[in-house]
Amino acid sequence: MQKGIDKVVVLEVEDIHKKYRGQDILKGISFKVRKGETKVIIGPSGTGKSTLLRCINQLTIPDKGRIWLEGEEVIHTKKNINQFRQKMGMVFQDFNLFDHLTALGNVEIGLTRVKRMDKDEARQKAIEELKKVGLEEQANLYPAQLSGGQKQRVSIARALAMDPKVMLFDEPTSALDPELIGEVLEVIKNLAIQGMTMILVTHEMGFARSVANEIIFMEDGKILESGPPYQLFNNPKYERTKRFLKKITELYGE
Ligand SMILES: Nc1ncnc2c1ncn2[C@@H]1O[C@H](COP(=O)(O)OP(=O)(O)O)[C@@H](O)[C@H]1O
Ligand SMILES: [Mg+2]
Repeated sequence: MQKGIDKVVVLEVEDIHKKYRGQDILKGISFKVRKGETKVIIGPSGTGKSTLLRCINQLTIPDKGRIWLEGEEVIHTKKNINQFRQKMGMVFQDFNLFDHLTALGNVEIGLTRVKRMDKDEARQKAIEELKKVGLEEQANLYPAQLSGGQKQRVSIARALAMDPKVMLFDEPTSALDPELIGEVLEVIKNLAIQGMTMILVTHEMGFARSVANEIIFMEDGKILESGPPYQLFNNPKYERTKRFLKKITELYGE
C-alpha cells in the first residue's frame, strides 16, 4: 500500500490556471497533500513554481481552479483571506523579515497583530519558536546582525508560530551561501520528521530525495510527472525529466 494513502487530505489543489500579461503561466495544476506529507516541487526556472505557491496562499489570485484547506474551500474575500493565510506558513527565498524588528519581534508580530495574543503570551510563544530553530540566543538581534541561515531560520520560526496546517517553502536555501544551507535544511528536515505537512520548492536534490513523500516535476506550467523519490530519480518516465535531473545535479550537486 502506498504510504499515506489513508491519511487525511490537508490541502487539495484542483485545476489551477494563471495567466500573466495574456501568457499562460499555470496550465491546470492538481494535487493533494495528506497530513504529515512532504511534497517537493522541482522544475526549471520560470516554470511557474513560485506562482503556484503564491496561488495556493492567495498572494496571487488564480484565474481558474479551486483550493481546499482541511476540506474548506479557500476563497479570496477580504473577510476570509487572512484566516486562510494564517493557516499556511510561507517561507520565501529572500526571508522577508522586518529589518526594524529583532528576531523576537519578527516572530511576535504576527501573534499580537494577527492572532491578537497578549504581549506576554506572544513573547513566550515567540521564544519557544526561536528555540525550536536553535536561535534563542539571537532573539534580540536585528536581521542585519544575523547570517542568511539565521535569517531564514527566523522566518521559519515566524511561520511556525502561527500554528499553520501546512508550510509552503519557496526555494528556502537558494539565497544562502553554501556553508549556510545545511542548518536551514536541518530545521526543515526536523519539521518533516515531526509530521508537519509541507510543500517545498527546491533545487537541493539530495535533500528532496531524503525528505519527500512525493516529487512533483513541473515544466511549462504543468505537472509533467510525479512519484515517490526513488521512482522519479531512478526511473523517470520522460526524457525531459531525466535531462532536468542531470542538469540540476551538475549545477547544484547531490
Ligand atoms: N507578477 C508577475 N507579473 C508578470 N509575470 C510574472 C509575475 N510573476 C511571475 N511571472 C512570470 O511567470 C513565469 C513563471 O514564474 P515563476 O512562478 O516565478 O517561476 P519559477 O518559480 O518556476 O521560476 C515567469 O515567466 C515569470 O516571468
Ligand atoms: Mg521561483
